[in-house]
Amino acid sequence: MTNSFRTLDDVDVKGKRVLVRVDLNVPMDDGKVTDATRLERIAPTITEISDKGGKVILLAHFGRPKGRDDKNSLKPVAAALADGIKKPVAFADDCVGDVAAKAVGAMKDGDILCLENTRFHSAEEKNDPAFVAELAKLGDIWVNDAFSAAHRAHASTEGLGHKLPAYAGRTMQAELDALGKALDAPTKPVIAIVGGAKVSSKIDLLENLVTKVDALVIGGGMANTFLHAQGVKVGKSLCEKDLAATALRIIDKAEASGCAIILPVDAIVAFHFAANTPSHAYGLDAIPDEGMILDVGPQSIERINSAIDDAATLVWNGPVGAFEMTPFDRGTVSGAKHAAARTKAKKLISVAGGGDTVAALNHAGVADDFSYISTAGGAFLEWMEGKPLPGVEVLKK
Ligand code: 3PG
Ligand code: MG
Repeated sequence: MTNSFRTLDDVDVKGKRVLVRVDLNVPMDDGKVTDATRLERIAPTITEISDKGGKVILLAHFGRPKGRDDKNSLKPVAAALADGIKKPVAFADDCVGDVAAKAVGAMKDGDILCLENTRFHSAEEKNDPAFVAELAKLGDIWVNDAFSAAHRAHASTEGLGHKLPAYAGRTMQAELDALGKALDAPTKPVIAIVGGAKVSSKIDLLENLVTKVDALVIGGGMANTFLHAQGVKVGKSLCEKDLAATALRIIDKAEASGCAIILPVDAIVAFHFAANTPSHAYGLDAIPDEGMILDVGPQSIERINSAIDDAATLVWNGPVGAFEMTPFDRGTVSGAKHAAARTKAKKLISVAGGGDTVAALNHAGVADDFSYISTAGGAFLEWMEGKPLPGVEVLKK
C-alpha cells in the first residue's frame, strides 16, 4: 500500500526547507506532557530529515482554540519533543508572517524549528487558500507524518499537499502499511472487536466492518443495545433503546455479508457504578432489574478468546467493559492478553487504535506485543468506517 505514496526514500532533503506536519496534540497536565507516545512516533521522521541535512520545520495544532490563547501554545510541547529526541528544537511564536519567515530564514541545514499552533489562525481549519499559500512560502516540500490528524482537511494537513511536493513521513508510512494489512488486504479470516459505550457513535463503523470482516465481537455498553434489540432484559444497564432497529439492521447486514456477530452470552453485573462494588456473573436470561452490566462474563471471555484463535488478523477498537474500574477490566484485559500471546506466537496480526483502546491495552500491559497500535483517535475511527482521509488522499501519487 505504501508504494502508492512518495516517501522519504523518494527525495533528497539536503539543504531543503521541509515543512513537516506532525501531531503534537498530546495530553498535558500542568504544563507537562503526560503521554509522550505521539512524540516518540514522530521522532524517526524528524531525526532522519535533520541527519540528512534538511531543515525541519514542524507544523502542528494543539487543542481546539478559538484564536490565539496561551493555554494552547505548542511551546511546552516543543520543549518536551527536544528532550525526547535529544536535539535542540527552536520555537517561533507564529506559524506564518514575519515571525515565522525570520525563524525559518535563520535555520542552518539539519536545524529543527517548531512553529506555533496552526489553529491560532481560523484560516487553518477553513483550509483557506491564502493561508495555505502563506504556509507554503516557508517550505520547499511538505511531509505529512500526522495520520492521527489526517481526517481533517485543514491547511496544514491537506491544503499544503496541493501546493508543494508531498511525501509521507515514516510514521504515516508505518501506519498506512499496518492498517492496509488489517482491512484493505488482510490475511483472512479477519476478526474485529468493537467496544465502547455507545452504538450511536459507531453506527457507520459497524455497518462498514460487517461487510469486511469474518467475525465481529461487540462488547462494552454498546453490546447492551444489541442484546436489548434481541429481547434480552438489560436492567439498568447503559442502553440506547431508540437504536434497537439500527442494531437489528446491522445484524441483518452481517448475516447477508457472511459476518458472524459475537455478542456476550453472560455478563458481570453490579448495582452501583463504582470500582470494587460487589458484582456477580449472570446469564442473559437472569439480569436483575436493578442491575447494571459492567463487563462481559467468563463464558463470553472464552468465546471471544476462541474467536481470536480462529482468526489470522484482528482489528480492535474500544474496551469490552468498564475497564477503568476494577474488576470490570477483566474482559478487556483477558482478550488483550490472549491477542498479544497469539501475536507473539506469530499466529495473529493484531492492530488496535482509537482513544480509549490504547489506554486499555496499556492498562493490560500488552501494548508492545500487538503488531501495531495506532495513536489516532478520530482518524482511526473514520478509517474503520471506510471513509477516505483527506490527509492521506492528498499523498496518493
Ligand atoms: C487528535 O488528537 O485526535 C488529533 O490530533 C485531531 O485533533 P482534533 O480532533 O482536535 O482535530
Ligand atoms: Mg479527536
